[in-house]
Amino acid sequence: MENKVVLVTGAAQGIGFATAKAFAETGASVALADRDEAMVNKAAEQLKTAGYKTLAIACDVSDDTQVKAMVTKTVKTFGKLDAAFNNAGIQNVLADAADQTIEDFDRVMGVNLRGVWSCMKYELQHMRKQGSGAIVNCSSIGGILGGPQRGTYHGAKHGVIGLTKSAALEYAAQGIRINSICPGIIHTPMVDKMMAGGQQDILDAMIETVPVKRLGHAEEIASAVLWLCSDMASLVVGHTLVVDGGYSIQ
Ligand code: NAI
Repeated sequence: MENKVVLVTGAAQGIGFATAKAFAETGASVALADRDEAMVNKAAEQLKTAGYKTLAIACDVSDDTQVKAMVTKTVKTFGKLDAAFNNAGIQNVLADAADQTIEDFDRVMGVNLRGVWSCMKYELQHMRKQGSGAIVNCSSIGGILGGPQRGTYHGAKHGVIGLTKSAALEYAAQGIRINSICPGIIHTPMVDKMMAGGQQDILDAMIETVPVKRLGHAEEIASAVLWLCSDMASLVVGHTLVVDGGYSIQ
């Protein structure tokens, strides 16, 4: 990815930060975007101090105007946009379908589905001018499986796969590849929060059923995203890449 320009959303921590770091280590210039301004500044600074080319952008992906500005700033700063990882995502409040609130539905859809839609839209406006690019959208094993009390999260993540496949068909002939990734249970601050919030038992039971018998590491998702964005994946179009230690094949 040397001399490439990459944009990662939700890059202040977890999978997003690990992926931004992995891209930077291959020689790419990386724009790290996150709604948490202080944290994303710190994350970008950490990579800059290590000698990498980074840019921090405060952006809430559920705000279409901010997303447009994020993509414009990346292109203005680094001159182009070769790859993007639309990773920012949040969990829903656990509730059975009959009890879910419209506020939580809109909150989760606004980030996990419309956020990805907005990001893709503005990234593609630049990439189609260039005639090249690679986008990876972050879905989840929740994008291919059901999950009790997680209907809005799973609904949004299923939607990400539909957006990905449809856009992939539109842009494949223009040199732009769009794929999605479905992480399994990955040890990040999101999972720490689920454990602290009383979901430790559920997670323990899930880990017991993962064939590799452990949580995944954010770096294991980062390396898959890197591959999808690289020329080594030049024939991979509209694919849903599941990286879950075998959880979903049972
Ligand atoms: P995390 O909670 O550790 O980090 C997410 C980052 O996204 C945070 O820095 C947060 O500030 C940022 N963010 C949240 N909402 C945002 C918004 N509206 N605009 C911009 N940034 C925002 O999460 P984690 O675990 O790293 O997850 C990353 C992605 O991977 C998410 O889309 C998540 O749904 C997905 N995923 C995670 C799994 C896991 O086990 N950790 C499993 C499957 C999917």
